[in-house]
Amino acid sequence: MNILILGAGGREHSLAWAIKQNPKTDRLIVAPGNAGIARLAECAELDILDGAAVVAFCARNAIDFVVIGPEAPLAAGVADATRAAGLLTFGPSAAAARLETSKAFTKTICEACGAPTAAWARFTEAAPARDYVTSKGAPIVVKADGLAAGKGVVVAMTLAEALAAVDDMFAGSFGQAGAEVVIEEFMGGEEASFFILTDGITCLPIGSAQDHKRAFDGDLGPNTGGMGAYSPAPVLTDSIAEQAMAEILRPTVAEMARRGTPYQGVLYAGLMIGEGKARLVEYNARFGDPECQVLMMRLGAQALDLLLACAEGRLAEARLSWAEDHALTVVLAALGYPGAYGKGSQIRGLDALPEDSRHMVFHAGTAERDGQVIATGGRVLNVTARGATLAEARARAYAMVDRIDWPGGFCRRDIGWRAL
Ligand code: AMP
Ligand code: GLY
Repeated sequence: MNILILGAGGREHSLAWAIKQNPKTDRLIVAPGNAGIARLAECAELDILDGAAVVAFCARNAIDFVVIGPEAPLAAGVADATRAAGLLTFGPSAAAARLETSKAFTKTICEACGAPTAAWARFTEAAPARDYVTSKGAPIVVKADGLAAGKGVVVAMTLAEALAAVDDMFAGSFGQAGAEVVIEEFMGGEEASFFILTDGITCLPIGSAQDHKRAFDGDLGPNTGGMGAYSPAPVLTDSIAEQAMAEILRPTVAEMARRGTPYQGVLYAGLMIGEGKARLVEYNARFGDPECQVLMMRLGAQALDLLLACAEGRLAEARLSWAEDHALTVVLAALGYPGAYGKGSQIRGLDALPEDSRHMVFHAGTAERDGQVIATGGRVLNVTARGATLAEARARAYAMVDRIDWPGGFCRRDIGWRAL
């Protein structure tokens, strides 16, 4: 079949890598793609936020299956447009993607289905929000309601910080995303990411992961989109995973169906695990980036069969075979990230690296210029490896990192420390 993947990051490179290995794949196009993706698929120029343009592109290229990577096209209703045009689509409707695009919406769903999460309140004006924060005290969490590229959350350890965050958000620092502010109880514990596929009815867990959000070793420095990840997450034991399925994921999917907005796609739950129990921090309506890279490394070619079963509403028949293995990815970022960083520096040494079922460098922000790979983003490469143990996966990943010649970049040297 002919498959179109929307997106341009490491997540989409890993999806393309897994899908390409499946013999069902004939033609594989990624729009817009990047220099790494171009080595295994066709890349195409396309406005991926424009549903009509995506539908027209699919018609021109005889696409049978559309896989939507990032949240922006989901929020823009691209899955609605492709499904309305009769295209088999992986990814939720805009109404279902509200589980990611509105934090207040997710909280109302949790209330309706009894899913454990932090106590909360919502505000559209600064004064009552300030009063609420003052009455609750710190630590407390202040969130812009809408999509803010992962930056709209302030975990305030002092009252002054919390009040400043409230003022900031209502002053418009996150634009429309901060027109409504959600204030939450601070939850202690260890975070893990849990991924399920759902066709709207059946829920199938496809793995867990943990990422490292801070820029520097020892979990220091500013927050980023993620500097590395590993799967599985040891903190998400079988019994906690079952509790999360029973109390959080399945009730959420059932509540979405009951409301007439069934959720179809991958549902990514950010969980806080403390006192032997998981509570929901947030949902995302897409795979994590870089968490997807470690999941795809472990799933391989069967990923396509699972995504298809999900899109076709036959997940109840799907079979998942898990190897007892581990995967780890190290993000190489441009010097300066997550602040201002340079673009255009050359990366050498990639061609000499192994590319097989245990080693893969996924590209997140690269382009090709005069036959050379250059950095074009903040997070640039995801050096990913698989092993029988996490220690083995990590050793393989860093052995690859050490062979990449890129003076314009940096990485953390301690990915996986918590689990090792
Ligand atoms: P979110 O964008 O909602 O995932 O929040 C970003 C990060 O803020 C999470 O990954 C957590 O580390 C932290 N966070 C969010 N909500 C809470 C909470 N209620 N308690 C403690 N930490 C939180
Ligand atoms: N790595 C976190 C995310 O994709 O949201």
